[in-house]
Amino acid sequence: MDRIRCYYTILFILIIQILLLYVNLSQQNPSLTFNINKRDAQAVTPNTPNTPNINQTVPLKCNGDATICDLRYDQVTHPGTHNSAAYDLVFDCNLTVRNCLNSVSVCSKQYAQCVLTYGMQCDAQTTVCKQRSPQWYHWICDGFNKTCRSSNALCAAWNAVCTNTDRVCNVWGNACQVDIPEWVLTCFWDNNPGYPVLRQLQDGIRLFDFDTCLVNNETAVLCHGENPVRALGGELDPTFKVILDFMNANPNEVITIEFGDIDGDAVIISNYIQSKLAQYFINQTTGHSLMYSSADPNRPWITLREMINNNTRIVVFFGRIYNNVQNRQPWIFSTREWFTESFSYTGNDMTAEQLVNSFNGYCASSDSIIQSDMQTYGRVRWQTIDDTVGILPTNIEDALRMGKSPGPICLQDLALTVNFDVLKNIEAYCFPRFPYFFRVRLDHYWQSSLFEVVKKMNQQNVIKFLGNTTNT
Ligand SMILES: *[C@@H]1O[C@H](CO)[C@@H](O)[C@H](O)[C@H]1NC(C)=O
Ligand SMILES: *[C@@H]1O[C@H](CO)[C@@H](O)[C@H](O)[C@H]1NC(C)=O
Ligand SMILES: *[C@@H]1O[C@H](CO)[C@@H](O)[C@H](O)[C@H]1NC(C)=O
Ligand SMILES: *[C@@H]1O[C@H](CO)[C@@H](O)[C@H](O)[C@H]1NC(C)=O
Ligand SMILES: *[C@@H]1O[C@H](CO)[C@@H](O)[C@H](O)[C@H]1NC(C)=O
Ligand SMILES: *[C@@H]1O[C@H](CO)[C@@H](O)[C@H](O)[C@H]1NC(C)=O
Ligand SMILES: *[C@@H]1O[C@H](CO)[C@@H](O)[C@H](O)[C@H]1NC(C)=O
Repeated sequence: MDRIRCYYTILFILIIQILLLYVNLSQQNPSLTFNINKRDAQAVTPNTPNTPNINQTVPLKCNGDATICDLRYDQVTHPGTHNSAAYDLVFDCNLTVRNCLNSVSVCSKQYAQCVLTYGMQCDAQTTVCKQRSPQWYHWICDGFNKTCRSSNALCAAWNAVCTNTDRVCNVWGNACQVDIPEWVLTCFWDNNPGYPVLRQLQDGIRLFDFDTCLVNNETAVLCHGENPVRALGGELDPTFKVILDFMNANPNEVITIEFGDIDGDAVIISNYIQSKLAQYFINQTTGHSLMYSSADPNRPWITLREMINNNTRIVVFFGRIYNNVQNRQPWIFSTREWFTESFSYTGNDMTAEQLVNSFNGYCASSDSIIQSDMQTYGRVRWQTIDDTVGILPTNIEDALRMGKSPGPICLQDLALTVNFDVLKNIEAYCFPRFPYFFRVRLDHYWQSSLFEVVKKMNQQNVIKFLGNTTNT
């Protein structure tokens, strides 16, 4: 634990150093911002599925699409965002400083490890650079290799911070309050900068993924990251209010809210979330709940039309906190019980190629996965396409430890490598191999093929589950 903390404490310096390298490099030639497929890099404007319904007698449109109303909730593919509330985050300096002060250093060992693996990372990164650019360009990669190697000052800085924990923590604390540039947060922590939940709802996002962190030992706030590398967002209240107002104003929309990662006591956090959900989405006067619940887990899911008719249009999933919440309400569903998150087999992927390979490998064995689900659960769980490659601060740490390349660094760069053709390829290969695809979820959705791909999947869902006799 202490080791980890020491590691985390210096992580910022590492990150900033790596960024400086990266920035220097991209200034020499901007197109080295990792050679992204040109088509992938094009910005597109997202669909706006909520075109007003001029003729009131035309059929009901469910989430903007009349053809999917009679699909059951689990037969629909829902377009979502990853770390939906990761914007306008603020680094939690107080926590860093506290943990920093508590830590006892094992620095020399860390230093040795750092020196040992540093060259390997430079090599890996250089190799990626060379693979992704034409021959005439390789001198740039060599330049990078050289700069990278000359900077094992990084390890020394780490050692210095680590061995002067107490003194440095105070300095770091002050620096943290003042000096962390906003772009560092945008680069590493903000999955959806400039696109708050209301905008996402208006654009057609129908599935949200909220990470939460405990503050003051009593309140869960939206956030991204864990431990000293966590960055805090807003309270739940304003976001839930935005969602409630949208749902009341748009009675034909069905949304999903997932609570995934947490940082802090799981019982306090899960109880807090449950009570806030009840406060906003159960009408205090009438007792009506906007949240769908099922008394009998063996009963099939209902259709979007039924959810709309019954005004139970919010589906809530708890991930790892499902078993921590006390007096759990029947409108909380378990992530693990219902679906397999693709992150479980793509979690180590740092490049688009690796991501595609993971999906292809997994989807190729769909027959045995389906069989095993039938044996374990008596039904086939839903699949997901979580179309993200990681370099979160923790991934950088892992990368350094494992001597792997951290790859292109900022969330936006990473998203652009996978949000277009890569996504289409995964869909094309995987979709026919499993009965249910519950969600497609990514970062920077406004630069992606998300809505196009989900629309295609839902057209196929209609044919698969309702037959192709219905119009369109
Ligand atoms: C609305 O749609 C119905 C059925 O398609 C059609 O019969 C009717 O004329 C339309 N009304 C208007 C005002 O467009
Ligand atoms: C951090 O600590 C300072 C001083 O103790 C306090 O004023 C501030 O509110 C704290 N910030 C957060 C986000 O807890
Ligand atoms: C990086 O530089 C080192 C030392 O000069 C060299 O041995 C290594 O092959 C270089 N890596 C690549 C991928 O070119
Ligand atoms: C945090 O709150 C829990 C219950 O609300 C309490 O049992 C625990 O002692 C508190 N921890 C701290 C450090 O205050
Ligand atoms: C609760 O329901 C009543 C009656 O339908 C309605 O007037 C009121 O606006 C609802 N309250 C909220 C917070 O939605
Ligand atoms: C709609 O709500 C009613 C009353 O809560 C319930 O009895 C019924 O089962 C619901 N319909 C569906 C399809 O869930
Ligand atoms: C619709 O169904 C018919 C007969 O089942 C089939 O021949 C045809 O290819 C299907 N069309 C599409 C678009 O799947």
